[in-house]
Amino acid sequence: MLTNREKPEARRVPMLPIRDVVIFPHMMTPFVVGRESSVRALEEALAGDKKVFLATQHDASVDDPKPAEIYQVGTIASIVQSVKLPDGNVKVLVEGVERGRILSLNDEEGYFRAVVRAVPQKVEPSPQLEAAVSRVNSLFEQYVKVSQSLNYETMIAAVRGEDAAKLSDTIAANLQISIEEKQELLETFDPAERLQRIGDILDIEIEKLNMDRSIQGRVKKQMERAQREYYLNEKMKAIQKELGRGEKSELDELKKKIEAAGMTAEAHEKATQELKRLEMMPPMSAESTVSRNYLDWLLAVPWKKKSREIRDIDQAEKVLEEDHYGLEKIKERILEYLAVRRLVKEAKGSILCFVGPPGVGKTSLGMSIARATGRKFVRLSLGGVRDEAEVRGHRRTYIGALPGQIIQMMKKAGTKNPVFMLDEVEKMSTDFRGDPSAALLEVLDPEQNYMFQDHYLDVEYDLSQVFFICTANVIHTIPPALQDRMEVLRLSGYTEPEKIEIAKRFLVKKQRSAAGLTDKNLQFADAGLSAIIQSYTREAGVRNLEREIANVCRKVARKVVKGGQEIEIVITPDNIGEYLGVIKFRDTVAEKHNEIGLATGLAWTEVGGQILATEATLMDGKGRLTLTGKLGDVMQESAQAAMSYIRSRSHLLGLQREFYRRVDIHIHVPEGAIPKDGPSAGITLATTLASALTQIPVRRDVAMTGEITLRGKVLPIGGLKEKLLAAQRAGIHTVILPKDNQKDMADIPALIQKDFTIHFVETMDEVLQIALERPPVPLAGLAPEAPIRAEFPSDDLSDQESLTH
Ligand SMILES: Nc1ncnc2c1ncn2[C@@H]1O[C@H](COP(=O)(O)OP(=O)(O)O)[C@@H](O)[C@H]1O
Ligand SMILES: [Mg+2]
Repeated sequence: MLTNREKPEARRVPMLPIRDVVIFPHMMTPFVVGRESSVRALEEALAGDKKVFLATQHDASVDDPKPAEIYQVGTIASIVQSVKLPDGNVKVLVEGVERGRILSLNDEEGYFRAVVRAVPQKVEPSPQLEAAVSRVNSLFEQYVKVSQSLNYETMIAAVRGEDAAKLSDTIAANLQISIEEKQELLETFDPAERLQRIGDILDIEIEKLNMDRSIQGRVKKQMERAQREYYLNEKMKAIQKELGRGEKSELDELKKKIEAAGMTAEAHEKATQELKRLEMMPPMSAESTVSRNYLDWLLAVPWKKKSREIRDIDQAEKVLEEDHYGLEKIKERILEYLAVRRLVKEAKGSILCFVGPPGVGKTSLGMSIARATGRKFVRLSLGGVRDEAEVRGHRRTYIGALPGQIIQMMKKAGTKNPVFMLDEVEKMSTDFRGDPSAALLEVLDPEQNYMFQDHYLDVEYDLSQVFFICTANVIHTIPPALQDRMEVLRLSGYTEPEKIEIAKRFLVKKQRSAAGLTDKNLQFADAGLSAIIQSYTREAGVRNLEREIANVCRKVARKVVKGGQEIEIVITPDNIGEYLGVIKFRDTVAEKHNEIGLATGLAWTEVGGQILATEATLMDGKGRLTLTGKLGDVMQESAQAAMSYIRSRSHLLGLQREFYRRVDIHIHVPEGAIPKDGPSAGITLATTLASALTQIPVRRDVAMTGEITLRGKVLPIGGLKEKLLAAQRAGIHTVILPKDNQKDMADIPALIQKDFTIHFVETMDEVLQIALERPPVPLAGLAPEAPIRAEFPSDDLSDQESLTH
C-alpha cells in the first residue's frame, strides 16, 4: 500500500478526534486533551516524531466516536508543546503541517491509529490567481475591520505576502463560520478553488456583520435612552423627596382641588377616576402628562364661580350712556332686552345679535353690557372657524388634544355667567370636517346648552347662565337656523357729525391718555377731526378714525418727550398733514368728469355702504358679455337682465337692430366693492351698458341703486342708510332709488335726507333719463311702438317722483 511513487507516501500516525474545531495547515492551535484514548495517542506521538493526525468528529457531543463518525480529511500536525495538568488532562500546542486523507483507521490499541496520505498543495501562478489573491486580501481586510473580534494588525501581518494555498488556509482558520463550512474548506484541495470559495464567504460574512452592527447600534441607543430616563426619573424622585414634596403630596393637592371645585357629580366622578389612574402611572411618563393636563382642564373651567349680577336697569342705562354716543334705538332695545331677561327668570329668550359694518361699536356695546350687568366679558372670533372640533374640541385620544374654543373661553372668563361675544358668526364656514354651526346652535339653544358636550372635557358643562351676544357684518349669510334664535339689532354707519361727536367724547380721550398726554398737550379742533374723517378715512364706522387719532397722539407724544411738557398742539386742517402725512382720499367722485360707460352705483358691502364704479367697454366681436372681478352669480344674472332690457329698447336707444351681434361687451366691477345684498347693482349695470352702446356719458354726480327685471322694472333694495352715507362720503348729492323704497325714508335721519336730491323711479327708462348726460336719439325711419318722448318726459323732472330738500 505504500507503493505509488507519484503520490506522497502514506504513513501511520496516532490520531486525535477533535471537537468544535477544524485545524488547518500552518495554524498554531492550543487545546486541552482529556479523553484517555486521546492522551494515549498523544503519548505515542510524543514518544515518536511528534506528529499527530487531527480530524474533526461529526458530532461534538459524542465521547467515543466510531471511525465512521469522524471526517476523513484532517491535518497532520506537529506537537510544539505539551503540559500535563494536575487534573490529568494535557494541554498541547500544535502546528498544522499539511492536509491528510485517512486511508485506514484502527483503534486496536485503545486509541486511533490512522494511515494517512498527505495532500500536496500545488500552486500554478497565473494572472487570475493573482487577482483572486488580491480580492481575498482586500475582502479579508474589510472583514477584520468589521468583525471586531480579530486583531487587525496581527491578522494583516499573518496573511501578508502568502501564496494562495497558505493565504486561504490562514484565512479559513480565522473565519467565524460553522464547523461544517470549515471542514468543507479543508476538503477543498485545490488552492485556487478554495480561494474563490473563501472570497464568496467573506462577501457574505461582511454583509452579515454590517447588518448586525447597524441593528446593534439601534438597540444600543434605545437601551441607553431607556436607562437614561429611568435614571433621571429616580433622581427626580430623590430630589422631590429631599425637598419634602413627594408626588404623594402633589396628588393630595389635586384631590383637594377636585373637592373644592364644586363640580357636577359627573365631572367629580370623572376627575376622581382620572386621579386614581394618575396615581398608578410613573410620574414622568407621557401618559401621566396627558392625564395631568386633563385634570388641569377639569379644574380650570369655572364650575360654580359666578359674578354677582347687577340687575338694576337704571344702572345699566347709565353705563350704556357713559360708553356710547348716539345709538338711541339700540340702547333702548338693549335695555328692553335686559328687562325681559330679568323678568323671565329662566331666560329662554333669544340671543342678541348686533349686525353692522366694522367700527360701529358692536364689540364695545357688548363690553358695556358686561359692565352694566356686572359680568365678565369674553370674545371669540368665529371668522374662519370651519371645523366642528374648534368649537367642541378633540377627543382625548388625539395627541395634543385640547378643549374647544367655547370651553377655553369659559376658562378665560373664570366665571360661569360671563357675557360671551361670538364675533363674526356669519364668517363661520362649513366643510368636510363637520359643521361648526351645528355645534354653535347647540351652544346657543337654552334647551340644550345646560348640558353642552365638549369632546375633550367629556362631561356635560352648563352654559345656561352665559349671556351670549353674536355680532355679524351682514345678516344674510348667517345660517337660517341660527338667525331664528337671534334678536337682530342693526347698527348702521355714522354720519360725519356723529363721528365728530364720538371722536370728541370718546376716541380722543381714550387715545390721548393711552399715549400719556394731557388735554393741554393736545386738542383736536372740530375742523381738524373733519379733515381726518374726509381725507384719511373712508368708512362706515370709526375704527380707522380712532387709529388715525392714535397716530396723531403718538407723534405728539414724541414731541413732548423731546420738547417738554409745555408743548401745546391743536390739530386743524392746516397742520394735520404734518402728523398723518399725505392725504389718502382726495377727490370725491362728484368732482370727476362724466364718462362714457362708467356709472356710479351704491352698494351695500360687509364694511358698510360703498360707491361702486361700474365700467363697460365695447370691442368688435360676436356678442359675448364678459364680467371681470369675482362677481358671483347674482351679478351675472343682473347683467343678463340689463342686457335683455337694452335689447328690448334698442330702437329707443338709437341702436341698430342686432347691434349686440357685432360687439363683445366687457363689464368690470372693482373687486372689494361687490355688493352683498345681491342684485342691487342691476340699474347701474344697465346704465353702464346703455352709455357704452349709445356713446352718451353718464353723470358722475348721480349715484344709483336698484334691482332690474328683464322688462326694465326697478325693484327695491336694502341697506338704504348705509348707501346714502356712502354717497355722502363720496360727495354725491343726487341719487336714484327704487320707488318701493320710499317708505323706508322714515328711518333715515333728517340730517342725511337734507343732503340729497332723491329720485324715486319705477322703470329703467326713468333711470336713463336722469343718469345720462343727454337723452338718446331713437333710430329714424323706424316706427317704434312706444315713442321715446312719450316714455320719459325728459325736460320736466318735477313730474317724476322726486324728493328735493
Ligand atoms: N357710538 C359710539 N360711541 C363711542 N364710541 C364708539 C361708538 N361706536 C364705536 N365706538 C368706538 O369705536 C371703536 C371701534 O368699535 P368696535 O366696538 O370695535 O366696533 P365693531 O365691533 O362694531 O367693529 C371702539 O373704540 C368703540 O368704543
Ligand atoms: Mg368687533
